[in-house]
Amino acid sequence: MMIRALGAGAGGGLPQWNCNCTQCAAARRGDIPPMMQSSVAVSDDGAHWVVLNAAPDIRQQLAATPALHPPELRGSPIRAVVLTNADVDHVAGLLTLREKTAFTLFATKSVLDVIRADRIFGVLDPALVSMVPIALDTPFSPLPNLQITPFAVPGKVALYLEGDGPVESGLVGEHTIGLAIAQGRHTFTYVPGCAALPDDLVARLSQSDLLFFDGTVWQDAELQKSGVGTKTGGRMGHIPMDGPEGSLTRLSSLTARRVYIHINNTNPVLLPDSRERRIVQAQGWELAFDGMEFEL
Ligand code: MLT
Ligand code: MN
Ligand code: ZN
Repeated sequence: MMIRALGAGAGGGLPQWNCNCTQCAAARRGDIPPMMQSSVAVSDDGAHWVVLNAAPDIRQQLAATPALHPPELRGSPIRAVVLTNADVDHVAGLLTLREKTAFTLFATKSVLDVIRADRIFGVLDPALVSMVPIALDTPFSPLPNLQITPFAVPGKVALYLEGDGPVESGLVGEHTIGLAIAQGRHTFTYVPGCAALPDDLVARLSQSDLLFFDGTVWQDAELQKSGVGTKTGGRMGHIPMDGPEGSLTRLSSLTARRVYIHINNTNPVLLPDSRERRIVQAQGWELAFDGMEFEL
């Protein structure tokens, strides 16, 4: 199985258009690499690919990835797109995939309902783009040798679907999923958004050879502390790395290669000389970057 991180950043990317925080400023100066928004491509043979989440940056992501260039006059090696939720940073790229090339869009029924209810996604010609619902804990094969099992993780509905009432984060259902992707005896697990790590989820994640996990924030109050916002990580549906219930502690027993992805521009792990970066690396974690590749 071939795996390529197309975008390592969270919503907004790095630098974010309207942000001048320490990390965004460092990226603008060229001191740290920029990051596009969260997306991963996987392949069973190098010729046919599945894109996990369609980021707003997909046009540049495909341009930067020769394996995803058109093999003929019109066409694409992309056979399918799989969504893990309906967030803007995971669905806006679908609008770029118009222009009459066939692929299959896989998502849970509740996420497909959101896509189908919005007329702008009608740019995906139904004669070419089939939308196929996937069910929790039920494997499907978007490529002949690749089997994907979707599973629920604690999360919340997309920001633009939040009503006026109180928002529940940590809901478990069809709106936020992780993907366990198997080829032969190898498993790669992709969880770009996750609000909490109960024991059963930790047990499931322990079964993979490679894990890409939610690295949005270092600490729950990061947006407040960096002065850019008021929401906590938990309120956004993202578990922090740090703290007694954070992902570093909760996933410390895993033997898999562990990679943080969907890293928000406020996260101090992005700074090479930060204390937080040293802690994460000392615990064996890697940080995704745009173009990072693995082969299992
Ligand atoms: C998130 O991951 O929390 C979302 O991408 C936030 C957003 O929609 O801006
Ligand atoms: Mn996001
Ligand atoms: Zn910033």
